[in-house]
Amino acid sequence: MATHNLLLLPGDGIGPEVMAEVDRLVAFLAKKSKVEFKTEQALCGGCSIDKHGTPLTEEVLAKAKAADAIIFGSVGGPKWDKVAYEIRPEAGLLRLRKELDLFANLRPAICYPALAEASSLKRELVEGLDILILRELTGGTYFGEPKEIVTLENGQKRAVDTTVYTTHEIERIARVAFDLARKRKNKVHSAEKRNVMKTGVLWNQVVTAVHAAEAKDVELQHILADACSMQLVRNPKQFDVIVCDNLFGDMLSDQAAMLAGSLGMLPSASLGAPDPKTGLRKALYEPIHGSAPDIAGKGIANPIAQMASFGMALRYSCNMVKEADLLDKAIANTLAQGYRTADIMQPNMRSVGTTEMGKAIVTELERLIG
Ligand code: IPM
Ligand code: MG
Repeated sequence: MATHNLLLLPGDGIGPEVMAEVDRLVAFLAKKSKVEFKTEQALCGGCSIDKHGTPLTEEVLAKAKAADAIIFGSVGGPKWDKVAYEIRPEAGLLRLRKELDLFANLRPAICYPALAEASSLKRELVEGLDILILRELTGGTYFGEPKEIVTLENGQKRAVDTTVYTTHEIERIARVAFDLARKRKNKVHSAEKRNVMKTGVLWNQVVTAVHAAEAKDVELQHILADACSMQLVRNPKQFDVIVCDNLFGDMLSDQAAMLAGSLGMLPSASLGAPDPKTGLRKALYEPIHGSAPDIAGKGIANPIAQMASFGMALRYSCNMVKEADLLDKAIANTLAQGYRTADIMQPNMRSVGTTEMGKAIVTELERLIG
């Protein structure tokens, strides 16, 4: 019997509430399928600062490195606004991404038919939308050095963030983009700012070279990141895979989330390179939404992004593709039945909270699995 070791890091804000619906899924699948899930919960983010004075302890980092997959909730909130920058809640998540070398961040934006009206864009623009933003996750502006604020002689301050990429970093993310596109509509848009940034020039050159050498079968288009942002709201269905650096990926994926109806809908998978011996990738799965402190503790958060993130873990880490497909279908059907959390509420639909949405999805999954 296959055993999957999962480390659950619910984090702060709505994190624990939406993670409870992952627990429900795990319990259901453990009962229904021939696999065993060994789950362990630990602290990361503000909750860890409160208890240990650091957003990620060495002990939890070691557990993360040993796990088959990490299911992550969300971190941060006004409570920790004043802690030192180095130990802010987000630093725990960034350290996990970096230490596990999770360079490939897959952020699918799918507009479920039932939600086409919930988007702020017109139905015909988003209905049937299925795009994938592939965000480089361990380089660029997030991690480049120097990164500092210094005080100048005249008393003014000077802040520096450094955007840095090497050939290797761009090559490996480009390969993932082409591989993913081959299983989809075979089209990659590579977004950068080569008209302003040296990293954009190199990005463009390296993606072009990988394409010429290894991926001529895939259609490649280069697009400036600002134009990509504009095209995402003008005509989003022209895209299949969009590959971009860490910072542009952060922005474009939030934008793509609104095409899908709500930030509460988008899951993500952060993957490392396959282990040369086992072929397995280190992996962390997280919703792209944040900790939403304004609605935390109220039981009204949308659990779909978190549950779909677990679905991505089934697909990429647990080799349970059939179950992952059925979970996606269960989510689509539950939405079609009219269940809506507050963020996606529409006239004449059934307004539900976090738990009720989670239960409805698991009930539908049970019906589909039979
Ligand atoms: C995301 C988030 C994070 C990021 C924050 C929480 C550090 O916005 O995953 O998109 O900026 O990467
Ligand atoms: Mg973000």
